[in-house]
Amino acid sequence: MLPGSMLSLASTSLPATLLASLLAASLGAQADERVDAQALVEKNCTSCHGSEVYTRDDRRIDSLDGLHAQVQRCEQNLELTWFDDQVDAVTSLLNRKYYNFER
Ligand code: HEC
Repeated sequence: MLPGSMLSLASTSLPATLLASLLAASLGAQADERVDAQALVEKNCTSCHGSEVYTRDDRRIDSLDGLHAQVQRCEQNLELTWFDDQVDAVTSLLNRKYYNFER
């Protein structure tokens, strides 16, 4: 049986407002739109190739997974040490603008 004192301790030590802000922070960290993918591409990804590699007839990428892997390869070659959400955001930007793979 749960003692009543434990229940009240739990509810006072974690106020709803704190829980709500923790939840909002962790959701925000995962959301693509928190990352400015356009700016990342313009800053880091235009020195070797422009968007023509994404649209050329013999482009090499043929799936969303492949695109994600290629973004990561180029990013790692450049030693940018992006976070996953930056790689994800750039992948979805390129997919939205150029590749249009289905999920
Ligand atoms: C140091 C030069 C360099 C930079 C900077 C660079 N890339 Fe690349 N990227 C390449 C090369 C080389 C290829 C392969 C081109 C080929 O196969 O002809 C390539 C190919 C690609 C492709 C595949 C194109 C296709 O065939 O469909 C994608 C996607 C891509 N890069 C994304 C990026 C992204 C995102 C960045 C910025 C993080 C970036 N690249 C920065 C060198 C670079």
